[in-house]
Order: sequence, then C-alpha cells, then structure tokens
Amino acid sequence: MPDMSVTLKNMRLKSPVILASGILGVTGELLINVANAGAGAVTTKTIFLEQRDGNTSPVVAEYEHGLLNCIGLPCPGIEESAKEIRIAKAANILLIASVGGKDTDEFIKVAQCCEDAGADALELNFSCPHAEAGLGANIQYNRELARSVVGAVKKNVSVPVIIKLTAEFKIAEIAKIVEAAGADMITCSNSVGPGMLIDVHTGRPVLSNKEGGVSGPAIKPIALRAVYQIAKNTTLPIIGTGGIYSGKDALEFIMAGATAVGVGTSIMHHDLEAFKKINSEIQKYLEDSGHKNLEEIRGIALK
Ligand SMILES: Cc1cc2nc3c(=O)[nH]c(=O)nc-3n(C[C@H](O)[C@H](O)[C@H](O)COP(=O)(O)O)c2cc1C
Repeated sequence: MPDMSVTLKNMRLKSPVILASGILGVTGELLINVANAGAGAVTTKTIFLEQRDGNTSPVVAEYEHGLLNCIGLPCPGIEESAKEIRIAKAANILLIASVGGKDTDEFIKVAQCCEDAGADALELNFSCPHAEAGLGANIQYNRELARSVVGAVKKNVSVPVIIKLTAEFKIAEIAKIVEAAGADMITCSNSVGPGMLIDVHTGRPVLSNKEGGVSGPAIKPIALRAVYQIAKNTTLPIIGTGGIYSGKDALEFIMAGATAVGVGTSIMHHDLEAFKKINSEIQKYLEDSGHKNLEEIRGIALK
C-alpha cells in the first residue's frame, strides 16, 4: 500500500488533501467532520479581530466552469473563532488558522490569539480578490507591506507561518519576497480575479458586489502555473489550491512542486465525499504506477 502521508514543517498529514479556507471552516464541529471525512488538515475561514458581517446577497454565483463569490469575509471575531479552534483541537485534528488584518498590528494580534487557541500553523490571507482595501485584499500587490507583515508576524509567533497568495503574472517575485521575509510555506492560489457575470434578463451584474473571486475548474491552469513558478523560484513547501476536483488534478499540483493540496469549491459540488474521492484516486494512481509515496513524484514536472 503506497504511503499517502506528507510532512509540512511541524505537521505530519495522513493525506495530502487539505480543506481550503472559507468553505465549512467556521465552526469546530464542521472542521472535525471534514477531518473525519479524510482531510489531512483543515483550514479555518479567515479570522479578524472584530466581528464582520460580509456582503449582502447574492454573494455566490455558479457558472459552467466554476464559481464566483463576493462573500466579503464575514467573521464572528477573534473570541468566538478562538473558541471554535479549541473545540476542533480537542479532537486532535491538524488545524491551520487563516489570519486576516487591516494592518500589521491586527495581523499580529489575530495570529497570537489563534496560536494560543492551539492552531498548528497560521495562514496569512494576503490575497482576497474582492475584499475592501486593507482587509487582506491588496497586501500581496504592495510588496513592501507584504514583506513587513510577514516579518512582524514571524517575530511574534512560534508556529509556522504560511502566506496565502493569489495567482498573478509576477508570482515568483512575491513568492521570493515572502520567503526572504521568513515565511515557512505558501498556499496558492486564492480565488482569482475579480471576475463578473451578467444576468441577460435584467442586464445587471449577478453579484450584489458586481465583482467576485473566481474559483473551481476555471482557475486550475492558472493556479497550477503559479505553483510551478513558486516551486521553481523558492524552496518553500507549497499547498497547491485551485480547481482541484479529482486525484488527477491533485497529482498535477504535486508534480508541479506542491507538497499538499487545498480543496474548496469541489466540496460545494461533491460535499465531503470530495476528500474520499480525491484520496482514493491519488492512492490508485500510486498503486498503478508503482510509486511508494508522493515524494517520488513531487516536482517531476519541474525537471
Ligand atoms: C465561498 C468561498 C469562500 C472563501 N473564503 C476564503 C477565506 O475566508 N479566506 C481565504 O483565504 N480564502 C477563501 N476562499 C478561497 C479558497 O480558500 C481557495 O483558495 C479558492 O477558492 C481556490 O480553490 P478552489 O478552486 O478549490 O475553491 C474562499 C473561496 C470560496 C469559493
């Protein structure tokens, strides 16, 4: 039987398939259910210091190739979120807390509270494509700010710090900057865009916010190219994310250099079965191809 486990710094995952931030990641109970369904680790929805409402409906629109969302980062605030992290950690699952902030100080405070609540790693959200300025939105496009937030958070926490980036043309440049600033890992990609859909009956944009982040199969080639570029230009472990629906999708990201993969939109179509399906398809590929573990195929597309 091939070994499906992977190591991400302090975390030994029994499966390389991780719950991406924002989908089912709000309560401890849900996070436990996702881990029980086969996720090697789970990521919380992005957490801010204060309670936030997010945008008004409609905030999600499906189309043939994926999803558009402008949920707007709603959050119950750090106290409620820390309680949920404690509930999830009591079940002994591997948990990554997604950390947001309007400035460096908020990033540090939220990161410290999540670490105190028991998070195994922190994922700084630098890349929500539809959030208002300063709330995770523009950070990766402001290279100086990105550098200083990574450095400041690293000085104040001891668990590994992952930087969540969105796929962009100059992804290698920002990946090298966050690596030099002390990041331990990179997750890529966040939803891409923003994009837009128009209802031809009303002639109006479908989403309340008009624009939203694109996720699902539509972004897979874009996210894959970004992961390939990060792997070519840094030595950081990567959680490859974007349109992963099958074992084949996951294997493409691992061959491009990812150590683990994140799954988000697929859950909306396959429910928690998504984890079972992707795990068993990866396992079957390893068995059929005679590979003993995922290490043997990691990054083979880079050569
Ligand atoms: C409804 C929805 C909510 C999301 N919320 C967050 C979030 O709170 N924080 C974050 O870093 N990413 C968030 N994302 C981005 C996902 O974590 C993921 O990076 C992106 O959707 C690409 O992966 P996928 O195609 O598998 O969904 C969200 C995505 C969706 C679809």
